[in-house]
Amino acid sequence: MKDLLSVSDLSGDDIQLLLSDAEEIKASGWLSALDGKVMALLFEKPSLRTRVSLEIAMRQLGGQSLYLSPTEVGLGERESIPDVARVIGRYTDIIAVRAFKHDTVQTLAEYADIPVINALSDLEHPCQALTDIFTIREKKRKLAGLTLAYVGDGNNVANSLMLAASLTGMNFRIASPKGYRVQENILQLAQGYAAESGADVLCADKPQQAVAGADVVYTDVWISMGQEAEANKRRRAFNSFQVNGELMSLAREDAILMHPLPAHRGEEVSEDVLDSPQSVVFDQAENRMHLEKALLMHMLGGLEITLPGYH
Ligand code: CP
Ligand code: NVA
Repeated sequence: MKDLLSVSDLSGDDIQLLLSDAEEIKASGWLSALDGKVMALLFEKPSLRTRVSLEIAMRQLGGQSLYLSPTEVGLGERESIPDVARVIGRYTDIIAVRAFKHDTVQTLAEYADIPVINALSDLEHPCQALTDIFTIREKKRKLAGLTLAYVGDGNNVANSLMLAASLTGMNFRIASPKGYRVQENILQLAQGYAAESGADVLCADKPQQAVAGADVVYTDVWISMGQEAEANKRRRAFNSFQVNGELMSLAREDAILMHPLPAHRGEEVSEDVLDSPQSVVFDQAENRMHLEKALLMHMLGGLEITLPGYH
């Protein structure tokens, strides 16, 4: 695998391998596996978790990172995307890109002769979904057979999570308002994966149908970065899709609540549920760093250096 642009770049086995490596690496702490390697972070949108977890992951593995902010990048404006890709490839070893359009991420990957990680686009957020699956496995000690209910926008986070769940044998239920559902082609891809892994992917009209009996309840913001102009329309459309105590009471008693953060307390999730003992959102945020360490080591070939004979 040269690039990670979509969760569908990985097989179910690839994901399982990544999860066991992340578990091992989480227990190991600092390693010098990526000594001398440099990662460029090209971000067109703000970030707390993705930027910090990737930078710290790189540093704790002995490598370095270079952050290029939205004003500095000018992807496709100051310079064409293929040219940016070809130039950065001369200085660094890997690119993490956060872009408005998935096309931008794809073009960068096509022209860069170094690996590219999608650090969030309008279509997918693979680092988040892989971390989420890692966190679920950590909390529940298994994946296959569990039911994950996603309530809210059929956005980048939902797309990647649906693919990751279906590849790892988790049943996926999603409830979104009309007009805000996951893309049909990604849904079909996930349904194909689920058929192979022994799981299913179902779309529900009402949050209650999705959440009933679920092991994991997941939500994300109603207004993603770049959709600020639609804020009022979206708040109206999602009004009955809040994850609150009443909705959580329909899930299993031991269900966990997940959210990629940042959360808009009182919108997609009520304050009491976000801060409840069922909420694992800060463990989830921490796990970004551990999972990304495993990912970087796979993509930059550091695994055999630090963990001799491990695979
Ligand atoms: N969850 C996540 O990707 O957070 P940031 O937007 O802060 O990176
Ligand atoms: N769907 C959100 C996720 C942020 C991590 C966004 O794209 O803004």
